[in-house]
Amino acid sequence: MTSYDLILRGGACVLPWGVETTDVGVREGRIAALGDLRTAHAANEVDCRGLHVLPGLIDAHVHLRDPGDPAVEDLSHGTRGALLGGLTAVFDMPNTAPSITDRERLDWKRGYLDGRAWVDVGIYVGASMRNIGELASLELQPNVCAVKVFAGSSTGDLLVADDASLEAVMRSGRRRICYHSEDEYRLQERKPQFTSGMPHRNHMVWRDVECAFLGTRRLMALARRTGRPAHILHVSTAEELDHLRDFRDLCTVEVLLNHLTQTDEAYDRLGGYAVMNPPIRDERHMRAAWAAVADGTVDVVGSDHAPHSRAAKERPWPDCAAGLTGVQTIVPLMLDHVSAGRLSLSRLVDLMCAGPARVYGATGKGRLAAGYDADFTIVDMKKQRTIEESWIVSPCGWTPFAGHACTGWPVMAILRGEVAMREDEVIGAPRGQAVRFAEARG
Ligand code: DOR
Repeated sequence: MTSYDLILRGGACVLPWGVETTDVGVREGRIAALGDLRTAHAANEVDCRGLHVLPGLIDAHVHLRDPGDPAVEDLSHGTRGALLGGLTAVFDMPNTAPSITDRERLDWKRGYLDGRAWVDVGIYVGASMRNIGELASLELQPNVCAVKVFAGSSTGDLLVADDASLEAVMRSGRRRICYHSEDEYRLQERKPQFTSGMPHRNHMVWRDVECAFLGTRRLMALARRTGRPAHILHVSTAEELDHLRDFRDLCTVEVLLNHLTQTDEAYDRLGGYAVMNPPIRDERHMRAAWAAVADGTVDVVGSDHAPHSRAAKERPWPDCAAGLTGVQTIVPLMLDHVSAGRLSLSRLVDLMCAGPARVYGATGKGRLAAGYDADFTIVDMKKQRTIEESWIVSPCGWTPFAGHACTGWPVMAILRGEVAMREDEVIGAPRGQAVRFAEARG
């Protein structure tokens, strides 16, 4: 009799070619068989009847703040939240304190994952005005998912704002570069128009549509001139999405869960807890984001999980910190969008598995297929549950989605063949590893 380490029995499996009710056999941490495994035996079997089996969901945009302030967030808590929220991998941003901008800090971060990460982790390297010449070799270091460029300023001190420096970044190396795209000059020029204590909705007036559009138009002109592939993170305006459709040969697109879920009414309801960069905007942009999900413009949906202390969020605008927690809530909220008919489960898998794997060149991830890592997110589309702040693992302890009722919930997560989360409990020790990328060494 054929034997496996693990068999998932009878789930509705979201395969690259459609949803099929089938068994999945796992051996040595990888998918060994798809099909009818009735006559096969396994040490561990999971009855998945009535559930959907997805490839392990990836959040390609998180800020785990390590090194930083552990009272707000750290890698251990952030990845534990990710796992409880149904993710099996995250890609971690470099704007930590200090930021991850050289070989030594990359090596430190890779080693630091061991015994601390609850899910697999890809590592961004940050571009700064001091490391442009080294980016070509830094992007090839093991487990680097991409170079991240802050072309507009946000949390932390990473910034490469002018065209000449951005072009130099694009000419240093060849992998796809990820951009925070807001025009720094317009941001700084308009800042004096605003004063402390103004209503929070001024965030989207200051960091306006033009600011995002100008940033993206400049980046696309430079990407065209240099031929360097680009990934525009958190695209937040209808205007950028329209523009980017002419650059699909060069550019891939991320939209955030927040921009698909929240509109400007959030400022009145949540105050500083609605402030993020680029900002939450009016409904016209949310509709454009959903249209771009529907027509395939969007490659990746991420959370931009970016914890800050309550004290920092409660300072008056514009002194309050920008950034919202999200790593634990992105999957339930996306499943709720599926339940509401805004996208299919197959499209969700495209945006959170195949999309990240394709855009960043992750190997062994993002696909329910033989030979791939046995990472699974198992979801119950009938389960109804309300997001509660007490559930949030990140030490900062808040979510902008408290009270949001979801239909559809992740009930199990399997990491390289081992059940790592089941019904709201993490199982065993942190077993996360560094994610591998085809174009990086190691
Ligand atoms: O709102 C944001 N917060 N946007 C960013 O680009 C950075 C992030 C953070 O690190 O706080």
